[in-house]
Amino acid sequence: MSENWTAVDQLLESLLLPEDEALGAALAAAEKAGLPPIQVPPVQGRFLHLLARAIGARRVLEFGTLGGYSTIWLARALPAGGRLTSLEVNPSYAEVARANLERAGVGDRVEVVVGPAIESLPALTGETFDLTFIDADKPSTADYFDWAVAHTRPGGLVVVDNVVRRGGILDESTAGDDAANVAGIRRFLAAAGSDPRVDVTALQTVGSKGHDGFALAVVN
Ligand SMILES: C[S@@+](CC[C@H](N)C(=O)[O-])C[C@H]1O[C@@H](n2cnc3c(N)ncnc32)[C@H](O)[C@@H]1O
Repeated sequence: MSENWTAVDQLLESLLLPEDEALGAALAAAEKAGLPPIQVPPVQGRFLHLLARAIGARRVLEFGTLGGYSTIWLARALPAGGRLTSLEVNPSYAEVARANLERAGVGDRVEVVVGPAIESLPALTGETFDLTFIDADKPSTADYFDWAVAHTRPGGLVVVDNVVRRGGILDESTAGDDAANVAGIRRFLAAAGSDPRVDVTALQTVGSKGHDGFALAVVN
């Protein structure tokens, strides 16, 4: 079945997504540098890009840069004067990302901040964001979401990735390799669902990255 999901993703990419040298080069550079291939798939990168454009996002925050793949998609949605801050704990990943962002021509509008995201947030407390993409360490997702909602304008969006985990979120016992991530995502879902500051949903997805899903919240 997953072979089929990958083939469908490839078909959708070939029909809907233009060939993109900078994004291809970013993935190649990340692979060469030994980064894990855990970036969003192309169709989801474009989805994030379209969301940002649809709401006219000028100020974007990202948790989890990796090699800057989703960052490039989001940064390209920004109008002149728009800015994106991306938080990454791993300095060598951030270095790869900065080179990728420069090559993609968006280095001037993106700041990659190195350090544990939770420690980078105090410097951003005076800011208001239009869109936040949360895609870092899953156990902290609820904390990032809480902060993001408090710092996102009414009508702004918070997107949270990897909230289905091949159905792993069904396992309440939180045993297994993914236990801490599952517990973190369940904590996030429970908090988001009862948070009066947002209206939220989540969608399951299948594709080249298997069975997963994302949550989308609009700030009230
Ligand atoms: C799934 S990857 C991000 C993928 C990226 N958003 C993309 O789609 O191209 C998760 C990233 O979060 C970073 N990360 C993990 N723990 C973190 C933390 N405490 N603070 C900031 N970044 C963290 C990892 O180093 C990794 O690069």
